[in-house]
Amino acid sequence: MPPYTHTGPAGCDQEFDARVLQGKIAIVTGGANGLGEAYVRALLAAGVKVCIGDLDTEKGQKLEVELPGTKFVQCDTSVWEDQVQLFREAASLPSTGKISYVVANAGIHRVDEVFQQSNTDSEPERPDLSIIDNNIKGPLYTAKLAAHYFIRQNGQTPTSDQQDTCLVLIGSGAAFLDVPRSPQYSASKWAMRGIMHSLRRTAYYYGSRVNVISPWYVRTNILPEEAYEHVANAGIQFANAEDAGQCLLRILSDTSVNGHSFFVTCRKWASRGYIDLDLEDYPGNDLVAEIQDEQIRPAPVSAGLFV
Ligand SMILES: NC(=O)c1ccc[n+]([C@@H]2O[C@H](COP(=O)([O-])OP(=O)(O)OC[C@H]3O[C@@H](n4cnc5c(N)ncnc54)[C@H](O)[C@@H]3O)[C@@H](O)[C@H]2O)c1
Repeated sequence: MPPYTHTGPAGCDQEFDARVLQGKIAIVTGGANGLGEAYVRALLAAGVKVCIGDLDTEKGQKLEVELPGTKFVQCDTSVWEDQVQLFREAASLPSTGKISYVVANAGIHRVDEVFQQSNTDSEPERPDLSIIDNNIKGPLYTAKLAAHYFIRQNGQTPTSDQQDTCLVLIGSGAAFLDVPRSPQYSASKWAMRGIMHSLRRTAYYYGSRVNVISPWYVRTNILPEEAYEHVANAGIQFANAEDAGQCLLRILSDTSVNGHSFFVTCRKWASRGYIDLDLEDYPGNDLVAEIQDEQIRPAPVSAGLFV
């Protein structure tokens, strides 16, 4: 695993060989429904054993019965102890006993109270910030536990013996586009890119990678049916959950993919429903390159993991 360097967008039109994933263990948070379920099904089809951590016990248990090779663990990702238990159970799955892939998918969307109060005659009320708890705190716990297991498995010195591990954070179109009136959701999804940027240069010390998948609109339970109808009536094409699953396999089966974010999109924008928009660097911008160099100079990657 080489240190991070920008090499341009990863190809998303080509065939890839997911057989390298066979026999590995993955965790998918929020894997009982929607896009998470699609990641679970794609991983399973590639021969990966999957531990599903989700609040939805009924659906999670149903999946565990339907899909041999999965294990359901009841888990609220915003609760640290729940995630500790989730990782413990994943590591105790038969076969390797090592966690290779972690998908921090659990997330919510709800009415955002931050700018909801339009009456300026009264004092502003404290807004509910539970989107932040779910969508940032949860993935940060997931990222910490993933790094813990990856480091324990691979050590901190890059060698050819280290086995590939990868954390995948879930963004959104709201992680790079202007989305009016949803400051919490947008902040939480931009945050996934922030976490990725803070890890991508040092992940190689423990034989690891970190990437982001940002889905466009996909029909799931995250929005009410009327909201999807409203979007569809505006002429918007949706993306497919199955393409998100293939996007995940594309990332995991190619160890050269580190520090990228992929957009899962409708087919009119990408032949396979996902594309690397190359958003995570500023190629050709010499000034930003110089500023980045100065940013990192006092705490260089070469100083190791924990400075
Ligand atoms: N569907 C879309 O259009 C879309 C677009 C962009 C990004 N996303 C992102 O994709 C991810 C999955 O969304 P989805 O559309 O599949 O939603 P969904 O509501 O259909 O499924 C989300 C799953 O996560 C679980 N979950 C939510 N909070 C949890 C918590 N604190 N702990 C454990 N489990 C929890 C739910 O029980 C559910 O099973 C989210 O991060 C979402 O922000 C979705």
